[in-house]
Amino acid sequence: MHIPTSFVSLAFLVSAILVNPSSAAPEIDEEFQKVTCGSSVKISNEKSGVRLHSHSIPYGSGSGQQSVTATPTKDDPNSLWLVMAQDGHTCNRGESVPCGATIRLKHVNTKKHLHSHHHSSPMSGGLEVSAYDGSDSGDDWTIECVNKSAKFWMRESDIRLKHVNTDRYLSTSSQFVFGNPIPGQQEVAAHSLNQQGDQTWSAQEGIYFAEEVKQEL
Ligand SMILES: *[C@@H]1O[C@H](CO)[C@@H](O)[C@H](O)[C@H]1NC(C)=O
Repeated sequence: MHIPTSFVSLAFLVSAILVNPSSAAPEIDEEFQKVTCGSSVKISNEKSGVRLHSHSIPYGSGSGQQSVTATPTKDDPNSLWLVMAQDGHTCNRGESVPCGATIRLKHVNTKKHLHSHHHSSPMSGGLEVSAYDGSDSGDDWTIECVNKSAKFWMRESDIRLKHVNTDRYLSTSSQFVFGNPIPGQQEVAAHSLNQQGDQTWSAQEGIYFAEEVKQEL
């Protein structure tokens, strides 16, 4: 596959400023514990440890839109997602995301939104999850915090992502793994609650903006 030079240099820049995932239990400053609008984060599946991922590879079935997978690779810059307000809304950089809030996630490198719709997923028989080149309500996901006492989406805390239009949950499973050209990457689909796959995720390493940005960045 042809990879433009600009892509390679951007990839290097981003991975260089990520928190090193292999360093032992890095301490997180209090003001960076909340997941906020404008942050670019990696989203990890709690059970299989894979990261939500996309790339310029379309589905060969279903909608034919850009595929979304989950990868076991930790340091892949194609696993960064920008936290944004729901379709038709805006939120300020550094604004915290309450549990139950609806957001969009934009794939940083390809600028497409995490999306779902009534197309069948390639393997597990769920609804297809794609990266969509536009914006509509099919890009909206509600953050459900697993900790019922939590008020905000916190870094490294368990959440589920519920697709607003279909009430299905973002899911992946080590049962459904792609071969070439993306060997080892797991299917990501949307399923009813607890029906199929692992549906608990958390925001991990990334570029976080604190609630009050005190200086121009
Ligand atoms: C759940 O959230 C509450 C409120 O933020 C917090 O005090 C508590 O430690 C959390 N529990 C777990 C298991 O993370």
